[in-house]
Amino acid sequence: MSQISYVNGRYLPHNKACLHVEDRSTQFSDGVYEVIAVISGNLVDSQMHYKRLSRSLTELKMNLPMSVSALHSNIKEIIRQNRLKSGLIYLQISRGSAPRNHVIPNLIKESVVITAKHSKPNGGKHAKQGVSVITTEDIRWKRPDIKSVSLLPNVLAKNQAAQRGAFEAWLVESGGKEIVIEGSSSNAWIVTQTSQVVTHPEGVKMLSGVTRNRIIDLATSNGIQVLEAPFTVTQAKAASEAFMTSTSSFVVPIIEIDGHKIGTGKCGPVTTAIQTLYNDFTKKL
Ligand code: PDD
Repeated sequence: MSQISYVNGRYLPHNKACLHVEDRSTQFSDGVYEVIAVISGNLVDSQMHYKRLSRSLTELKMNLPMSVSALHSNIKEIIRQNRLKSGLIYLQISRGSAPRNHVIPNLIKESVVITAKHSKPNGGKHAKQGVSVITTEDIRWKRPDIKSVSLLPNVLAKNQAAQRGAFEAWLVESGGKEIVIEGSSSNAWIVTQTSQVVTHPEGVKMLSGVTRNRIIDLATSNGIQVLEAPFTVTQAKAASEAFMTSTSSFVVPIIEIDGHKIGTGKCGPVTTAIQTLYNDFTKKL
Protein backbone atom coordinates (compact mmCIF):
# COMPACT_ATOMS: atom_id res chain seq x y z
CA MET A 1 0.00 0.00 0.00
CA SER A 2 1.45 3.39 -0.97
CA GLN A 3 1.86 6.05 1.68
CA ILE A 4 -0.43 9.07 1.53
CA SER A 5 0.48 12.49 2.95
CA TYR A 6 -1.45 15.70 3.42
CA VAL A 7 -0.11 19.04 2.13
CA ASN A 8 -2.18 22.23 2.26
CA GLY A 9 -5.60 20.69 1.68
CA ARG A 10 -4.56 17.82 -0.62
CA TYR A 11 -4.03 14.11 0.01
CA LEU A 12 -1.12 13.02 -2.16
CA PRO A 13 1.12 9.99 -2.73
CA HIS A 14 4.06 10.50 -0.38
CA ASN A 15 6.62 10.95 -3.19
CA LYS A 16 4.47 13.72 -4.73
CA ALA A 17 3.83 15.53 -1.44
CA CYS A 18 5.95 18.71 -1.58
CA LEU A 19 6.25 22.19 -0.14
CA HIS A 20 7.37 25.16 -2.23
CA VAL A 21 11.17 25.72 -2.44
CA GLU A 22 10.64 29.06 -0.72
CA ASP A 23 8.74 27.63 2.20
CA ARG A 24 10.12 29.41 5.25
CA SER A 25 10.52 26.15 7.14
CA THR A 26 13.39 25.16 4.83
CA GLN A 27 15.00 28.61 4.65
CA PHE A 28 14.61 29.82 8.24
CA SER A 29 13.33 26.82 10.27
CA ASP A 30 10.27 29.06 10.56
CA GLY A 31 7.73 26.50 11.66
CA VAL A 32 6.50 24.27 14.44
CA TYR A 33 5.60 20.60 14.64
CA GLU A 34 4.03 17.84 16.71
CA VAL A 35 4.51 14.08 16.73
CA ILE A 36 1.45 12.13 17.91
CA ALA A 37 1.48 8.39 18.63
CA VAL A 38 -1.13 6.04 17.18
CA ILE A 39 -1.86 2.85 19.11
CA SER A 40 -4.45 0.34 17.85
CA GLY A 41 -5.60 3.00 15.38
CA ASN A 42 -6.21 5.57 18.15
CA LEU A 43 -4.41 8.88 18.64
CA VAL A 44 -2.69 9.16 22.03
CA ASP A 45 -3.39 12.38 23.95
CA SER A 46 -4.22 14.34 20.78
CA GLN A 47 -5.83 17.18 22.76
CA MET A 48 -2.63 17.73 24.74
CA HIS A 49 -0.67 17.83 21.49
CA TYR A 50 -3.09 20.37 19.97
CA LYS A 51 -2.82 22.51 23.09
CA ARG A 52 0.98 22.50 22.89
CA LEU A 53 0.80 23.21 19.15
CA SER A 54 -1.44 26.25 19.78
CA ARG A 55 1.03 27.49 22.37
CA SER A 56 4.02 27.08 20.02
CA LEU A 57 2.10 28.93 17.27
CA THR A 58 1.10 31.75 19.61
CA GLU A 59 4.67 32.17 20.88
CA LEU A 60 5.85 32.60 17.26
CA LYS A 61 2.85 34.77 16.27
CA MET A 62 1.64 32.20 13.76
CA ASN A 63 -1.90 31.00 13.09
CA LEU A 64 -3.34 27.57 12.55
CA PRO A 65 -4.95 28.05 9.10
CA MET A 66 -7.93 25.86 10.06
CA SER A 67 -9.87 24.99 13.19
CA VAL A 68 -8.47 22.38 15.59
CA SER A 69 -11.43 20.13 14.78
CA ALA A 70 -10.69 20.38 11.02
CA LEU A 71 -7.04 19.56 11.75
CA HIS A 72 -8.16 16.57 13.82
CA SER A 73 -10.39 15.37 10.94
CA ASN A 74 -7.46 15.65 8.49
CA ILE A 75 -5.24 13.63 10.82
CA LYS A 76 -7.96 10.96 11.17
CA GLU A 77 -8.25 10.84 7.39
CA ILE A 78 -4.48 10.31 7.05
CA ILE A 79 -4.74 7.47 9.59
CA ARG A 80 -7.58 5.97 7.57
CA GLN A 81 -5.96 6.35 4.15
CA ASN A 82 -2.67 4.87 5.42
CA ARG A 83 -4.46 2.12 7.41
CA LEU A 84 -2.28 3.15 10.32
CA LYS A 85 -2.74 0.92 13.36
CA SER A 86 0.52 1.50 15.18
CA GLY A 87 2.90 4.36 14.47
CA LEU A 88 3.31 8.10 14.42
CA ILE A 89 1.62 11.11 12.92
CA TYR A 90 3.98 13.97 12.05
CA LEU A 91 2.31 17.36 11.83
CA GLN A 92 4.12 20.49 10.69
CA ILE A 93 2.84 24.03 10.42
CA SER A 94 5.28 26.38 8.75
CA ARG A 95 4.95 30.13 8.30
CA GLY A 96 4.30 29.54 4.59
CA SER A 97 6.16 30.40 1.39
CA ALA A 98 7.22 33.83 0.16
CA PRO A 99 10.31 35.33 -1.53
CA ARG A 100 13.20 34.92 0.90
CA ASN A 101 13.32 37.78 3.39
CA HIS A 102 14.09 37.62 7.10
CA VAL A 103 11.21 40.03 7.78
CA ILE A 104 7.95 38.12 8.02
CA PRO A 105 5.61 39.13 5.16
CA ASN A 106 2.21 40.47 6.17
CA LEU A 107 0.10 38.44 3.80
CA ILE A 108 1.39 34.93 4.18
CA LYS A 109 -0.60 31.74 4.77
CA GLU A 110 0.77 28.94 6.91
CA SER A 111 1.55 25.57 5.29
CA VAL A 112 0.23 22.38 6.85
CA VAL A 113 1.85 18.99 6.37
CA ILE A 114 0.65 15.70 7.87
CA THR A 115 2.51 12.42 7.35
CA ALA A 116 2.08 8.94 8.79
CA LYS A 117 4.72 6.40 9.79
CA HIS A 118 4.13 2.75 10.67
CA SER A 119 6.03 1.30 13.64
CA LYS A 120 5.93 -1.80 15.83
CA PRO A 121 3.55 -1.69 18.81
CA ASN A 122 4.72 -1.75 22.49
CA GLY A 123 7.87 0.35 22.10
CA GLY A 124 9.97 -2.52 20.66
CA LYS A 125 13.07 -4.09 22.19
CA HIS A 126 14.34 -0.86 23.78
CA ALA A 127 11.42 -0.79 26.19
CA LYS A 128 12.42 -4.22 27.54
CA GLN A 129 16.20 -4.20 27.33
CA GLY A 130 16.90 -0.55 28.01
CA VAL A 131 19.32 1.78 26.23
CA SER A 132 22.46 3.76 26.91
CA VAL A 133 22.71 7.55 26.77
CA ILE A 134 25.58 10.00 26.57
CA THR A 135 25.64 13.50 28.06
CA THR A 136 26.53 16.53 25.97
CA GLU A 137 26.30 20.32 26.30
CA ASP A 138 22.90 21.86 25.56
CA ILE A 139 23.75 24.35 22.79
CA ARG A 140 20.11 25.10 21.76
CA TRP A 141 18.50 28.55 21.65
CA LYS A 142 16.88 29.94 24.78
CA ARG A 143 13.31 28.85 23.86
CA PRO A 144 13.31 25.04 23.44
CA ASP A 145 9.88 25.06 25.12
CA ILE A 146 8.58 26.07 21.65
CA LYS A 147 8.34 22.93 19.50
CA SER A 148 10.02 24.55 16.52
CA VAL A 149 11.43 22.65 13.54
CA SER A 150 14.77 24.28 14.27
CA LEU A 151 16.35 21.05 15.52
CA LEU A 152 19.97 21.21 14.38
CA PRO A 153 21.51 21.07 17.89
CA ASN A 154 19.19 18.13 18.71
CA VAL A 155 20.21 16.38 15.49
CA LEU A 156 23.92 16.88 16.23
CA ALA A 157 23.51 15.63 19.81
CA LYS A 158 21.55 12.54 18.75
CA ASN A 159 24.08 11.84 16.02
CA GLN A 160 26.92 12.12 18.52
CA ALA A 161 25.08 9.54 20.65
CA ALA A 162 24.65 7.21 17.67
CA GLN A 163 28.33 7.50 16.80
CA ARG A 164 29.19 6.47 20.36
CA GLY A 165 26.81 3.51 20.19
CA ALA A 166 24.17 5.15 22.41
CA PHE A 167 20.45 5.64 21.78
CA GLU A 168 19.96 9.15 23.17
CA ALA A 169 21.92 12.23 24.23
CA TRP A 170 21.05 13.98 27.47
CA LEU A 171 21.48 17.74 27.11
CA VAL A 172 23.38 19.31 29.98
CA GLU A 173 23.04 22.99 30.84
CA SER A 174 26.21 24.92 30.14
CA GLY A 175 27.66 26.95 32.99
CA GLY A 176 29.17 24.41 35.31
CA LYS A 177 26.27 23.02 37.35
CA GLU A 178 25.88 20.00 35.07
CA ILE A 179 22.07 20.03 35.21
CA VAL A 180 20.41 17.52 32.86
CA ILE A 181 17.67 19.48 31.06
CA GLU A 182 16.18 16.76 28.81
CA GLY A 183 17.12 14.41 25.96
CA SER A 184 17.63 15.43 22.32
CA SER A 185 14.12 14.10 21.54
CA SER A 186 12.81 12.93 24.92
CA ASN A 187 12.42 13.93 28.55
CA ALA A 188 14.89 12.68 31.15
CA TRP A 189 14.06 11.00 34.47
CA ILE A 190 15.94 9.39 37.36
CA VAL A 191 14.89 7.33 40.38
CA THR A 192 17.14 8.11 43.36
CA GLN A 193 18.49 5.49 45.81
CA THR A 194 15.61 6.55 48.13
CA SER A 195 13.07 5.74 45.34
CA GLN A 196 12.28 9.38 44.56
CA VAL A 197 11.27 9.85 40.91
CA VAL A 198 12.77 13.11 39.58
CA THR A 199 12.40 15.00 36.30
CA HIS A 200 13.39 18.57 35.34
CA PRO A 201 10.69 21.19 36.05
CA GLU A 202 8.83 22.77 33.13
CA GLY A 203 9.83 26.21 31.91
CA VAL A 204 11.48 27.86 28.93
CA LYS A 205 14.56 25.62 29.07
CA MET A 206 12.83 22.42 27.92
CA LEU A 207 9.90 20.98 26.02
CA SER A 208 6.79 20.25 28.05
CA GLY A 209 6.54 16.59 27.01
CA VAL A 210 3.05 15.20 26.52
CA THR A 211 4.26 11.74 27.59
CA ARG A 212 6.04 13.31 30.60
CA ASN A 213 2.88 15.11 31.70
CA ARG A 214 0.69 12.03 31.20
CA ILE A 215 3.13 9.97 33.29
CA ILE A 216 3.24 12.53 36.10
CA ASP A 217 -0.55 12.33 36.18
CA LEU A 218 -0.67 8.51 36.06
CA ALA A 219 2.13 8.11 38.63
CA THR A 220 0.77 10.56 41.18
CA SER A 221 -2.75 9.17 40.96
CA ASN A 222 -1.31 5.68 41.56
CA GLY A 223 0.77 6.54 44.62
CA ILE A 224 4.13 7.23 42.93
CA GLN A 225 5.25 10.74 43.84
CA VAL A 226 7.17 12.69 41.19
CA LEU A 227 9.53 15.50 42.13
CA GLU A 228 9.87 18.12 39.40
CA ALA A 229 13.36 19.37 40.21
CA PRO A 230 16.72 19.75 38.47
CA PHE A 231 19.22 16.90 38.82
CA THR A 232 22.90 16.75 37.87
CA VAL A 233 24.87 14.29 35.75
CA THR A 234 26.55 13.06 38.97
CA GLN A 235 23.16 12.45 40.61
CA ALA A 236 21.97 10.64 37.49
CA LYS A 237 24.99 8.34 37.50
CA ALA A 238 24.39 7.57 41.19
CA ALA A 239 20.65 6.89 40.64
CA SER A 240 19.13 3.45 41.13
CA GLU A 241 17.17 3.79 37.87
CA ALA A 242 16.87 6.17 34.95
CA PHE A 243 14.49 6.37 32.02
CA MET A 244 13.37 8.56 29.16
CA THR A 245 9.91 9.36 27.83
CA SER A 246 8.63 10.47 24.44
CA THR A 247 5.82 10.02 21.97
CA SER A 248 7.96 7.84 19.71
CA SER A 249 9.36 5.50 22.36
CA PHE A 250 6.99 5.86 25.37
CA VAL A 251 8.93 4.81 28.53
CA VAL A 252 12.44 3.47 27.87
CA PRO A 253 14.77 2.33 30.67
CA ILE A 254 18.27 3.78 30.65
CA ILE A 255 20.87 1.26 31.76
CA GLU A 256 24.04 3.23 31.07
CA ILE A 257 25.02 6.91 31.14
CA ASP A 258 28.38 7.83 29.53
CA GLY A 259 29.40 4.17 29.85
CA HIS A 260 28.56 4.13 33.59
CA LYS A 261 26.12 1.35 34.59
CA ILE A 262 22.90 2.55 36.25
CA GLY A 263 21.60 0.44 39.14
CA THR A 264 21.65 -3.24 38.22
CA GLY A 265 22.06 -2.44 34.50
CA LYS A 266 18.50 -3.72 33.89
CA CYS A 267 15.05 -2.12 33.83
CA GLY A 268 14.29 -1.41 37.53
CA PRO A 269 11.02 -1.88 39.47
CA VAL A 270 9.90 1.78 39.42
CA THR A 271 10.49 2.09 35.66
CA THR A 272 8.60 -1.19 35.14
CA ALA A 273 5.69 0.11 37.24
CA ILE A 274 5.57 3.33 35.21
CA GLN A 275 5.74 1.40 31.92
CA THR A 276 2.81 -0.73 33.10
CA LEU A 277 0.75 2.33 34.07
CA TYR A 278 1.40 3.89 30.66
CA ASN A 279 0.66 0.68 28.74
CA ASP A 280 -2.58 0.18 30.67
CA PHE A 281 -3.55 3.79 29.93
CA THR A 282 -2.99 3.33 26.17
CA LYS A 283 -5.07 0.11 26.17
CA LYS A 284 -8.08 2.12 27.40
CA LEU A 285 -7.94 4.76 24.61
N1 PDD B 1 10.25 14.43 20.40
N2 PDD B 1 12.06 16.81 24.47
C1 PDD B 1 12.35 17.00 23.17
C2 PDD B 1 13.48 17.91 22.81
C3 PDD B 1 11.58 16.36 22.17
O1 PDD B 1 11.85 16.56 20.88
C4 PDD B 1 10.53 15.50 22.57
C5 PDD B 1 9.66 14.81 21.56
C6 PDD B 1 10.28 15.31 23.95
C7 PDD B 1 9.17 14.43 24.44
O2 PDD B 1 7.92 15.04 24.21
P1 PDD B 1 6.61 14.18 23.91
O3 PDD B 1 6.43 13.27 25.07
O4 PDD B 1 5.54 15.20 23.80
O5 PDD B 1 6.86 13.43 22.63
C8 PDD B 1 11.05 16.00 24.86
C9 PDD B 1 9.44 13.98 19.30
C10 PDD B 1 8.87 12.64 19.52
C11 PDD B 1 10.25 14.09 18.01
O6 PDD B 1 10.87 15.10 17.84
O7 PDD B 1 10.28 13.16 17.24
